[in-house]
Amino acid sequence: MSEAAEIARKALSRGDLIGAYDATVAAIEAGDPSGAIRHQQILALARMGDTDRAMAKFADYGLQGSSNVDERTIVPRSFIGELLDSHFGGGDDDATSLIGDPPEVDSVLDLCTGSGCLAILAARHFPNAAIHAVDISKDALAVAARNVADHGLEDRIALHRGDLFAPLSGQRYDLIISNPPYVDAEGMAALPRECRAEPKLAFDGGPDGLDIVRRILDEAKRHLTPGGGLLCEPMARLGALVVGADASANNIEVAKLHAAEGGLSIDYRATTAETLAEQGETFDVILNMEVVEHVADVGLFLGKCAEMVKPGGIMFVATINRTLKALGLAIIGAEYVLRWLPRGTHKYGRLVRPEELETALSAAGLTIIDRTGVVYNPLADRWHRSKDMDVNYMVLAERAVTHAANPQGVAAAAGT
Ligand SMILES: C[S@@+](CC[C@H](N)C(=O)[O-])C[C@H]1O[C@@H](n2cnc3c(N)ncnc32)[C@H](O)[C@@H]1O
Repeated sequence: MSEAAEIARKALSRGDLIGAYDATVAAIEAGDPSGAIRHQQILALARMGDTDRAMAKFADYGLQGSSNVDERTIVPRSFIGELLDSHFGGGDDDATSLIGDPPEVDSVLDLCTGSGCLAILAARHFPNAAIHAVDISKDALAVAARNVADHGLEDRIALHRGDLFAPLSGQRYDLIISNPPYVDAEGMAALPRECRAEPKLAFDGGPDGLDIVRRILDEAKRHLTPGGGLLCEPMARLGALVVGADASANNIEVAKLHAAEGGLSIDYRATTAETLAEQGETFDVILNMEVVEHVADVGLFLGKCAEMVKPGGIMFVATINRTLKALGLAIIGAEYVLRWLPRGTHKYGRLVRPEELETALSAAGLTIIDRTGVVYNPLADRWHRSKDMDVNYMVLAERAVTHAANPQGVAAAAGT
């Protein structure tokens, strides 16, 4: 996120709508046309209650794909709109891209489509996809039909009326996107001003806000092609409950300060993976980043981490390969030349080869799903994915499903 977007985000989070709006105008004038800036500008206007100007901005930016909205649907402002802009570019070199080759996506389902804005954006981003869009509200679908027609997309987007997957006769999709209702009872009782003129049905997610989200997570598997993906708004906002673990109390204190600055609620603990496992903690996702190269017994450590992966859950492991190239770049380069890390941070003998890591993960009962190299480009100051696993690399492994997993996303980060 650019510095300007960060200033606008902070202003929005403390309710300074004018400050947030001004920051976005200044950023756009200074040449930052990013999705984050445009999204924040529209949010600031919508929260000020200035729906007309917010809508005009949607139309200007084409950000949410739709220009006709009235009291029958919500004003489009889904974070998924921004993600489609920023993270679906495709291409091997694009580290932030979530989908390698957008033209290869054949089918997309937009659940809870409202004005049809996300379905229309999806049609733009996935040029060869047939798109199905579902909403339970007849009124919302009337607005969606008008928007689909205005964009000339009648032959690409099929609108269905019904309850989530019910009208779809068991079809499978490469990608399911959804911005469902997910406001809890407390939030419904105190809806912000910009939401009060919008349909309640669009927000009400039951007592804890997750009634519809849980149903989507439960049923999505039966409607995804092998390798297909689900992007659901509360998860897209990384709304998972996160435990951050590191053995060093100092690191945890720094991480806490950093999270507080960003207004994030993360359960940081100065503890070890072994202790968490002994306490019976389990997670849907474990991010095991840059840790295995520091532990004495990789098999034992990964065995304990694997115990905490729920059935159907996944673990990412990022580390450094034991090659001469890694010795040159990651140890001599990073510690002695660039001084990114204190000297002696990494011991060559402790580095782990991909085949050793994968053997240990398999022995711990996990199945390897994917692997990738991660390469630093000093000119662009960016990391990107690569086939070259000689230095930094990541492996993704999952625990097979043996019984239904808790659908609520819970993640842990080791090596915070
Ligand atoms: C938060 S709005 C999202 C609209 C649009 N996708 C967007 O991002 O602007 C949620 C939509 O879900 C619809 N909805 C609520 N319950 C539903 C259900 N059980 N099945 C299908 N749609 C539902 C509402 O009518 C509303 O249009």
